[in-house]
This record gives sequence, C-alpha cells and structure tokens, in this order.
Amino acid sequence: MFSVAIDGPAGAGKSTIARTAAAEFGFIYVDTGALYRTIALACIECGADVQDADAVTALLPQLQIRLVYQDAVQRVLLNDRDVSDMIRTEQVSMSASLVSRIPGVRAFLLHLQRQLAQEQSVIMDGRDIGTVVLPEANVKIFLTASPESRADRRLLQLQQQGEKADYEAIYRDIVQRDEQDMHRVVAPLKQAEDAVVLDTTEMTLEQSIRAVCEIIRKGMDEK
Ligand code: DC
Repeated sequence: MFSVAIDGPAGAGKSTIARTAAAEFGFIYVDTGALYRTIALACIECGADVQDADAVTALLPQLQIRLVYQDAVQRVLLNDRDVSDMIRTEQVSMSASLVSRIPGVRAFLLHLQRQLAQEQSVIMDGRDIGTVVLPEANVKIFLTASPESRADRRLLQLQQQGEKADYEAIYRDIVQRDEQDMHRVVAPLKQAEDAVVLDTTEMTLEQSIRAVCEIIRKGMDEK
C-alpha cells in the first residue's frame, strides 16, 4: 500500500488537487473532512449542540458512517443514507469545525480512517493526516494559500454555482475556521515536520496539481 497525506487549511484546494492526483495514480481519494461534516449534520438534525462535548459524544454510538466509492467518487453514508450533498452547506462547515474539537469525535473517526489506508493505496486529505492519522505516510504534503486567495477562490466557486456570495462573510468564515482548526487542543491543524510545504497563493490550479503529482512521483521513486 502507498499512502499520501495532504493537510492544510480550509479552501487551499486540497480536495480538488487530491482527487485529480488520486485519479492520475489510480489511488483512492479519501476526503476526511466529510466524516466530521457528517457528524455535524447528525447533530444538527437531532438538535444536539455542536459545542456540547457530552451531548455530541453520547450521540456517536448511534451513528454508523461509511465511505463508499461509485466510479471512484466518494459518497458518505450516515446510517445507510447518502448525505454527500447535504454536508456541503456553510452551516455544516462551521459546525464540523466545532465538533472536530471534541476528543471523542476524533477517536471515533481515527479507526475508520486508518482502516481505509490499510485496505488500499490512498490520498487522504484533512488537517491531521500526516501528524496523527497516518504518521507513517509515504508522502506528506502541507498545502496552503493566503486567506485572501482562499476567499477569492471560494467566492468564484459559489458564483459559478449560481449562489449568492459575499466576499467579506466568506473571508471572515475562513479566518474563523483557521483559528478554530489551528488552536484546538486535540490534533490541531499543523504541518508535520517531514511534510513538503506547497504554498499555492500564486499558483493556478493546474500548476498546483502538477506540483503535487511531482512530489508524489518522487516519493514513489524513492520507495
Ligand atoms: O476539509 P473540510 O473543510 O471538509 O473539513 C471540515 C472540518 O472538519 C474542518 O473545519 C476541520 C475538520 N477536520 C478535521 O478536524 N480533521 C480532518 N482530518 C479533516 C477535517
């Protein structure tokens, strides 16, 4: 098995880049943010306060979360219901960042993530993949970009989807999520010491994909 860990802040382009690179190398792409988002959705649906660690932790035994692949596209199932599209709202994004601070939530998802990487070659993206989930990953990449450029990209993406979007609100959300993800006590977003850092602020998507594939290819040659 070969494993690639891609970590970095929200909106750095991790998922698009990781998905494309996975297709290029024939690896499975695992979007771990979807798992935290699914727990956040379950809390919202049953009225549990995402800041109440006891309430969220008590809910976990009732949740069965599975990642399945249809034509190499990841779908996430919550108690056998496909919630892949429902977890993409701004409300779920912010709630996912809050539930991800809870130690019980992180422990609950750790086993599932490691199991996926044992069964197949993966490119896994998240916040703590290179540091906690797969500390022995063959390749580790820390993908980052300035908050301004991440907000610009998100704005463009929403506009292309025909959604109403406000730059100031998007920028504020990005800065707040960075703050929450970097400063939580358990498994905060941070660069693994042995990660290759790629700052994509001044790069196009094409250039970023090429750079990531290059790093992976080098890692495969060295293995
Ligand atoms: O990558 P994303 O935006 O879908 O992630 C949603 C939230 O989940 C993010 O704000 C922090 C959390 N998360 C995490 O704590 N650890 C991961 N490996 C992936 C996501």
